Amino acid sequence: MVNTESARQFLGSDFEKYRQTLNVALHSDEQYLNAINKYVLGSRGKEIRPILSLLAGLACGSLSEQSYCTAAATEMLHTATLMHDDVADGASMRRGALSVSAMFSAPAAVLTGDFWLARSLNLLVSKCDRQITLNFSQAIRKMSEGELLQLDKADRLDTTEEDYFRIIYGKTAALFVASLKSAALAVGADSLSTDCIESYAEHIGLAFQIRDDIMDYTPSLNTGKLPGADLKERKITMPLLGALKSAPEKADSILSEIRKIESVFAARTTPREAEIIAGVSDFVLKYNGIEYASEKLSEQIGLAVDSLSPLGSSDARQMLIGFAEYVGKRGR
Ligand code: IPE
Ligand code: IPE
Ligand code: MG
Ligand code: MG
Repeated sequence: MVNTESARQFLGSDFEKYRQTLNVALHSDEQYLNAINKYVLGSRGKEIRPILSLLAGLACGSLSEQSYCTAAATEMLHTATLMHDDVADGASMRRGALSVSAMFSAPAAVLTGDFWLARSLNLLVSKCDRQITLNFSQAIRKMSEGELLQLDKADRLDTTEEDYFRIIYGKTAALFVASLKSAALAVGADSLSTDCIESYAEHIGLAFQIRDDIMDYTPSLNTGKLPGADLKERKITMPLLGALKSAPEKADSILSEIRKIESVFAARTTPREAEIIAGVSDFVLKYNGIEYASEKLSEQIGLAVDSLSPLGSSDARQMLIGFAEYVGKRGR
C-alpha cells in the first residue's frame, strides 16, 4: 500500500518544488499575518491533494512549473477552506493542535483564510492556463454550495443518502476533481487521459470524505480532530444513515435526540449534549452504521481504481492505485 510518506519519497524533488512554490507564495510583509502563517505551517496537513495532483500529472506526462503551481494552489485553497470550516463548525482542534480560530480568533481565521484563498488565485491567474483557473473557481463555487447545503440540512435534519452525496461531492470531491483535472491539463494530457483522471478524482474525493466521516465515529484513532464533532454539528453522515436504514423504527427518537443539540456553533459541548452524542454513537455502532459506510467506501475506492484502467501504465499510475487503498484505510 502507498501512503503519504512513500508517495512523497517517490515524488522526491518534485514534491520539494511544490513546497517551495507554496512557501514563496505565502510571503507577506504583515507581521501578524506572518505569525499566523507560521503557526499554520508549523502543523502541516497530510498534503494529500498536492501529492495526488503531482502523481496525476506524472501519470499523464512530464511536470512543469504549471504543475507545481497547480499543486500549491490546491493546498492553499484547501487550507483556506479548513480555516473557514473551523469557524463555521465551531471546531477547536485541527491537525493535532488548536484551530486558528481557537488559537487566534474567528475573525483572524476568516481573514487569514481569505489571504490563502487570494494567494491561491493569484498563483493560478499568473502562472496557469485559463482553463485551470476556471476549474478552481468552479470548485470554490461547489464547495460553498456543498457547505451551505450541509448547513441547511443540519438545521432540518432530513438528510437522505442522495443529499449526503451531493454535500460531500461539493465540499470535498469537487476540489480533488479541479486539482487532478488541472494537473492533467498542465502536462497537456489528451482527453481520454484527462477523463480517466477526473473520474478517479471524483471517486477518491467521495471515498476520502466517507472515510473521514467513519473516523469521526472512531475515537480510538488519533486523527488530530475531536471525535463526535459531526453529531455535535448535527451532521447526518454515512454511518448514521446506515444505522437509520437498519433500524427505521428508531429514526424518530434518534432525530429528536439530535434536535436537542443546540450549541452547534459553540466550541464547548454541554454535559447533556455529550450524553446525546454518546447515545447516538452507540446506536450507530449497534446498528452496523460503520459497516454500511465501509461498504460504500469500498465501492468508491473500486470505482476510483477502475477509472484508471484505460490510462497507459506507468509507475505514477501504480502509485495512484496504491494510494486509493490508503484512502480507504487511513487513520488520519
Ligand atoms: C480535511 O482534509 C477536510 C476533509 C475534506 C475531510 P484533510 O484530512 O486532507 O486535512 P489535512 O490537510 O491533512 O489536515
Ligand atoms: C470538510 O468538511 C470539507 C471542507 C470544505 C473543509 P468537514 O467539516 O467534514 O471536515 P473536518 O472534519 O472539519 O476536517
Ligand atoms: Mg469541520
Ligand atoms: Mg464543515
